[in-house]
Amino acid sequence: MHVNSENILSVKDLTKSVQVEDKTLVLLQPLNLTVAAGESIAVVGSSGSGKTTLLSILAGLDLPSSGQVYLKNKPLHQFNEEQRSQVRAQHVGFIFQQFLLINSLTALENVMLPAELANLTDARARGEALLEQVGLADRLDHYPSQLSGGEQQRVAIARAFIAKPDILFADEPTGNLDSKTGQHITDLIFDLNAKEGTTLVLVTHDAKLAARCQRQVEMDSGVLTEPTVEQVSNNAKTSNVESTKTQHHDVETQNSAAQATTPQVG
Ligand SMILES: Nc1ncnc2c1ncn2[C@@H]1O[C@H](COP(=O)(O)OP(=O)(O)O)[C@@H](O)[C@H]1O
Ligand SMILES: [Mg+2]
Repeated sequence: MHVNSENILSVKDLTKSVQVEDKTLVLLQPLNLTVAAGESIAVVGSSGSGKTTLLSILAGLDLPSSGQVYLKNKPLHQFNEEQRSQVRAQHVGFIFQQFLLINSLTALENVMLPAELANLTDARARGEALLEQVGLADRLDHYPSQLSGGEQQRVAIARAFIAKPDILFADEPTGNLDSKTGQHITDLIFDLNAKEGTTLVLVTHDAKLAARCQRQVEMDSGVLTEPTVEQVSNNAKTSNVESTKTQHHDVETQNSAAQATTPQVG
């Protein structure tokens, strides 16, 4: 695999292990992945399979143990924390599973922070507009401790959008939301994909959300797999039969057919 400028993300032979006491725990087996600019990709898989670990490395929040990660052709695996934080400020939005809002800042201040780090001029106006879009216009001055879990989730989503990232990583973005709010947030995320060309990498257990992505990959005990073209067409033929993976990025014309089979994920 070579680094292609059309690929916003390019991963080669990535692994992650951690040392726990005297044992080495392998969290990610060698994996390869490329994501084209503007693509949407869902990462599915059971709890503990390594999805959050993978997302953290792809977004430049953590380093791999071995292998290469290029984001916008920048070698994150060779970058120190400061260099990686610069890449994140310029290109990356991240919605964390645990939100990670700053408790001493209001909702609006939390949302404005990435815009200020990226030196955008209209941080306040954009922040207010985004909080309105996620239904929190009357919560601008509330602190995280004054917000419910679902409201904090929506602040985190507004924060991820504010600096108009080239790529958005989201770890269970609808996990804490009721289905109506979840649907609204999903629509917002895909609006961003359609209007701004933002690449989406979404970890999700939500079958509907996964089905809206162009591609699905699955994590299983640290092993990443992607359905082959053959699997995709077999799934399309056998339509309702326990198809867990029905889409592939190389098969544009099969996307609508694949979506019609309503893949079951989780
Ligand atoms: N820093 C760490 N030290 C030890 N074990 C870890 C560490 N980070 C993650 N793990 C373990 O690695 C596995 C994958 O975790 P994670 O990526 O959070 O999975 P997922 O997001 O799919 O639920 C889990 O068994 C988790 O307990
Ligand atoms: Mg996780």
